[in-house]
Amino acid sequence: MGFAYRNGVLCAEEVPLDDIARRFGTPCYVYSRAAIESAYREYESALRGRDSLVCYSVKANSNLAVLALLARLGAGFDIVSGGELARVLAAGGDARKTLFSGVGKTEAEIELALQENVLCLNLESESELSRVAAVARRLRRRAPVAFRVNPDIDARTHPYISTGLRETKFGIAYDEAERIYAAAARLPEVELVGIGCHIGSQMTSAAPFVDAAGRIAALADRLARAGTALKHIDIGGGIGIRYRDETPEPIGAFLDGALGMLAGRSETLIVDPGRSIVGNAGVLLGRVEYVKPGTARNFVVVDAAMNDLPRPALYGAWHEVRAVREPESGARTAVYDVVGPVCESADFLAKERSLSAPREGDLLALMSAGAYGMAMSSNYNSRPRAAEVLVDGASAHLVRSRETVEQLFALERIPG
Ligand code: LLP
Repeated sequence: MGFAYRNGVLCAEEVPLDDIARRFGTPCYVYSRAAIESAYREYESALRGRDSLVCYSVKANSNLAVLALLARLGAGFDIVSGGELARVLAAGGDARKTLFSGVGKTEAEIELALQENVLCLNLESESELSRVAAVARRLRRRAPVAFRVNPDIDARTHPYISTGLRETKFGIAYDEAERIYAAAARLPEVELVGIGCHIGSQMTSAAPFVDAAGRIAALADRLARAGTALKHIDIGGGIGIRYRDETPEPIGAFLDGALGMLAGRSETLIVDPGRSIVGNAGVLLGRVEYVKPGTARNFVVVDAAMNDLPRPALYGAWHEVRAVREPESGARTAVYDVVGPVCESADFLAKERSLSAPREGDLLALMSAGAYGMAMSSNYNSRPRAAEVLVDGASAHLVRSRETVEQLFALERIPG
C-alpha cells in the first residue's frame, strides 16, 4: 500500500516519484503517510476492546514527522536511548506512554527518563536494577520498572535480529526471573509495574510470538501468587513484512493468537512493533549514474549506497527494485547487480535482478525501505545523508533536508 504505478510512473500515494526526485534530489527516502496510518490502524483494530497500548519502536524510523504522525494517532513509544526519548518529546509524543528498553542505559539516560516520567524502564540485568534504584534514591523518586525476560524461544529469523534465545545478550534468564523480581520488590525506590519480552524481528510465523506470550503470562501468574501483581504485559514487536516472497501471517493473526493466550487477564497488553508499521511505507529513491556491463556480471551504479541502506550488506537483505518509469510489457530484460559508489564489495543494494535496459539518469526505487533504512544510515565515504520526504495524498513534504558536506565536518578541528 502507498506505492503503485499510475500512468506508467511509480507514485507515492498521488505523487509521482520522478516529481519528488526533481524537487528534492536523490538519493531520497520517501514515505507514505496513509500506509503508516493504515498499518497502525491494523494494530488498533486487532486490539479493540482490550486494555492495550501500541508502543511504536522508534529505532525502526525515528524521523520526527513519523513520530508526530504516530503520536497524533495515539501511539506510545518504545525507545532505547536518551536520544530517542528526546525525539519522542520533540515530536509531541507522550513520555507516560513510553517504554525505555535496552541493555546499556547510562546513568544520565535513567535520570532523564525518570524526570520525564516515562511509563517504565525495561530492565535487562540485576546491575541495571541497582543503578536505577540508586538514581531514583538520589532523585527522591520511585522508578517504574519491568524486566525484559528472555523466554528462550527461537524466533526463526536471521541470527542477527533474533533476540529470544539464551545465548543472546538480551533480557534476564527466564529461570532467574522470580528470584530477581523478589529482590526488586524489596527495594523501596522501584515500583514493579510490568514484565516484557521481545524475541526477534521479521518473524513470519506467529507460533513463536504466541509461545513467548504464553511463557511470559505463566511467569506473571507465578509472580502474582508470590505477591507481585503487575500492571502490564509487554509481548514485544517483531511481526514480519513481505520484502520478496515471504508470506507473514497478518498482524491480526499474530495478535489474535497472543490475545487468546492472554484472554481474561487484567493487565494492560503492550506491543512494540517497528518494521510492520513503517517498513512497507517507505522506499529509497536513487538515480542511475552508470550502466556497467561486465564479463561476469552487469552492474547498475546508482547514487544511493550501503551507507544509505545498509540492510543488504549487513544481513543479505532483499529489497525489491522497481523502475520509476514502468517498463513496457514484454520489454527485453537483462540481469544486473544494483550497486552504489562506496568503496566496498559489500556495497550492493540488490543482486542479480532482471531489469529492462536501465540507462543513465533513470530512477530506481528500492522498496520496503521504510524501516531500518534511514535510521541505520551513516556518512561513510563522507556521503551526506539522504533527504526524507513524507507524502500525504497529493502533497510531498520535505521532512529532513539532505545533509551538506560542510555539516559532515562541522564538529572537527585541526589542532595547532
Ligand atoms: N522491541 C524491542 C525491545 C526491540 O529490540 C525491537 C527491535 C522492536 C521492539 C521492534 O522490532 P520490529 O517490530 O521492528 O521487528 N536492523 C534490523 C532489525 C533490528 C531490530 C532490533 N530490535 C533490520 O534491519 O532488520
